[in-house]
Amino acid sequence: MPTAFRRCLSTATPIRLPLSTPAWISPAITKSLRKPVAFALLALPFIYLIWLVIGEVVAPGSRLGPDAGEAVVLYLGDWSMWLLLITLAITSVSRRLKRPQLISIRRMAGLFAFACVALHFLSYLTFLVTFDWPLIVEDLTDRRYITVGFAALLLLLPLALTSTRGWQRRLGKRWKRLHRLIYLIVLLGLVHVFWLTKDGYAQPMLMLAIFSLLMLERFLPRLRPGYQSAN
Ligand code: HEM
Repeated sequence: MPTAFRRCLSTATPIRLPLSTPAWISPAITKSLRKPVAFALLALPFIYLIWLVIGEVVAPGSRLGPDAGEAVVLYLGDWSMWLLLITLAITSVSRRLKRPQLISIRRMAGLFAFACVALHFLSYLTFLVTFDWPLIVEDLTDRRYITVGFAALLLLLPLALTSTRGWQRRLGKRWKRLHRLIYLIVLLGLVHVFWLTKDGYAQPMLMLAIFSLLMLERFLPRLRPGYQSAN
């Protein structure tokens, strides 16, 4: 952990404190605040969506444009991808900054990502195909971007169900192997996005760039001679 000497005025004795932690915040407070703060930040996209929808109900067309249903599907699709990338990034950031305590919020981020994908799927069922099952089956078989999106959702299910500590203990080493599916899920999510995008590739390219950087950070060290896996 990066540390710095800060002069304590009363005793003139140098004391060691983490660089980024103000002296008046004790580690106990940072620990107890970490999860509520992470929860509040991760909930922001959903709170903003509620605000958009309320505005839309009051004055149709004012906040979500002419096709509110499609706007909700796209909004939740975008945030599904960003939340999946945030979940992946937490591992890299905690390793690079040597802050293992950040790992405790990774599970929360993953569950938010899963909730967002599930809502994205539900909004697709509600607004775009209006629970017309033959049409949904046709979409799943004929539209390849729907097929891969659905595959990603199915693969996310076991990860969300086994995210508890109890399952982590029960599955042991297999838990880690199972949760490596997250790389495939994000990859399928990216394929889904590239296949459905017709113009304006800026956002998908940014998502791909972030994913590539995260993968390089994770797997490049393994190519070095003498690398020892932590597993
Ligand atoms: C991990 C899973 C998924 C991720 C990360 C994801 C992500 C996205 C993203 C980023 C968009 C584009 C939003 C934009 O253009 O601004 C999108 C659109 C869309 N997604 Fe997904 N999605 C996933 C799963 C699904 C599933 C399961 C379905 C339905 C079976 C689905 C159906 C759609 C549809 C219909 C659109 C809008 C296409 C359009 O109107 O142009 N997605 N999704």
